[in-house]
Amino acid sequence: AFVVTENCIKCKFTDCVDVCPVDCFHEGPNFLVIDPDECIDCTLCEPECPANAIFAEDEVPDDQQQFIALNAELSKKWPSITEVKDALPEADDWNGKENKIQYLEK
Ligand code: SF4
Ligand code: F3S
Repeated sequence: AFVVTENCIKCKFTDCVDVCPVDCFHEGPNFLVIDPDECIDCTLCEPECPANAIFAEDEVPDDQQQFIALNAELSKKWPSITEVKDALPEADDWNGKENKIQYLEK
């Protein structure tokens, strides 16, 4: 499955949801996740993310490994999102900032 990683936090551009053929994105307050049981590995979402936050599971960077479990866990809890919406207000400022996991709202 594909995995949403840390740089989505506080950005949530949502371009990714527009291309997913199986609608497997789920939305939290300031982050999106992919349901690994629904993702068909089509690869379409990866290049759509302006924050480069989406990776194939076997290409998730070493320091982002915890996001594999977070996507699995939070996708069961959060509602589905299938339509693009406005990014979070300060998305451009937060894009690329490090250590954003401390701001993840569950
Ligand atoms: Fe959806 Fe394809 Fe991305 Fe999986 S890889 S989340 S199926 S767009
Ligand atoms: Fe997040 Fe990128 Fe989608 S910032 S909402 S994974 S387009």
